[in-house]
Amino acid sequence: MSPLRALRLRLGSGASKVDQRALFGLACLLAAGIFALALALAELGDALLFLLALPLALGAMASGLRGGIALGLLCSVLAGAWWLERAYPEDGAWLASHVLACLLVGALLGGIVESRLRLGRALEHLREHSLDLIATASFDGYFTSVNPAFTRTLGYSAEELLSRPFLDFVHPDDVEATLAAVAELTQEGRDVLDFRNRYRTKDGSYRWLEWRTKPDLAARELIAVARDVTDRKRLEEHEHAYYERLEREVAERTSELELRNAELEEARRELLHRLALAAEYRDDDTFAHTERIRVSVALLAHELGLPDEEVALLREAAPLHDIGKLGVSDTVLLKPGTLSSEEVAHMRAHTVLGARLLSGSSSRVLQLAEEIARGHHEWWDGSGYPHGLRGEEIPLCARIVAVADVFDALTHARPYKPAWSVEEAVAEIRRLSGRQFDPRVVDAFCRLDPYRLAAIDDVHKQVA
Ligand SMILES: [Fe+2]
Repeated sequence: MSPLRALRLRLGSGASKVDQRALFGLACLLAAGIFALALALAELGDALLFLLALPLALGAMASGLRGGIALGLLCSVLAGAWWLERAYPEDGAWLASHVLACLLVGALLGGIVESRLRLGRALEHLREHSLDLIATASFDGYFTSVNPAFTRTLGYSAEELLSRPFLDFVHPDDVEATLAAVAELTQEGRDVLDFRNRYRTKDGSYRWLEWRTKPDLAARELIAVARDVTDRKRLEEHEHAYYERLEREVAERTSELELRNAELEEARRELLHRLALAAEYRDDDTFAHTERIRVSVALLAHELGLPDEEVALLREAAPLHDIGKLGVSDTVLLKPGTLSSEEVAHMRAHTVLGARLLSGSSSRVLQLAEEIARGHHEWWDGSGYPHGLRGEEIPLCARIVAVADVFDALTHARPYKPAWSVEEAVAEIRRLSGRQFDPRVVDAFCRLDPYRLAAIDDVHKQVA
């Protein structure tokens, strides 16, 4: 190795013992040459001796403080020889100042180089023992240095890693992203970039590396530190897969639950419907009254501006208004003639009985049905039954059902009376507004088409 190469390596703290000796020898030869030149060119006086600073610097670079002092001593001896050969110029002061200067300059330069070498050795120690992967790579795409953690992680020797483009080791799926990251650093002025990619190990498997990279534009090099995050990545993937599976299972269970809920809801609706039919069956085996009430009450509620949810609840609850008739005896319920006062009281009890049958439920439909059963024979002016409630003391749902129930009863024949005409029935409803019925509900009723209400016979068509 040439002395100049040794000098460069020395400055980079990478020179071997042999390199150091070569550099030190060069410094000694240079000092001897300068001394010989100073003797030969006597007319220049001691001017050439100032060039001894050069071998002093080389000696310091070769061996640090020891080299600097050794060259300082050598240069002092040479200066003394020159002083003797020139017959003691300026007495002892010249010699003392030159010896002192040589020793001080040698020690100073040696000290500076020594501290730099110490720092370089410390950095090299860290690099060698780092758990992180440290590398430099040229802008041409080759590693220029890798630390032991790099070779340890991937299983290749440093020579193998440095001899091929680093993209050869990158997972094919990550090559494009890696090229983009390199371009960002080398061409787009990005200062620091973090990214992940997979590197192939010597045994053919891949390791996930998390990089932090910085470009050195002057040296056209990338300085990179990486960490092996394969285990963390696997954990993340397992976690991701776990959450995906969990979400899928929750979605499946939710779907099953919704299906069961829908089935339960359908069963509940059917049960209520059949219950209402059971109550009506005894005096109207066509069940038509129940169906018509369901539709006309919904139309009235909608006309009154009730929210859709309330209308839907009313549609289900209204048909149960006469559920209490299950407790009324056939002789009273089906009697064609006038009822006695006891029979009237027995008949009127269907309101309280119905409310009792429906009470205590947490279902909003049944709670509403209870209010309707109890209040649908109450009158607006307080003369109704069973409790003689008046005005808005009567629940709105019961006031709505009252109008729909009476209109339907009037316009359809019963065992004890013929059907009224629509005009007669409407007139009767109007006449009873403010007495039996809530005027606001009667107004809403009048805004509807009474012929349509009276002709309700196909529930599904009307609701649609
Ligand atoms: Fe009733």
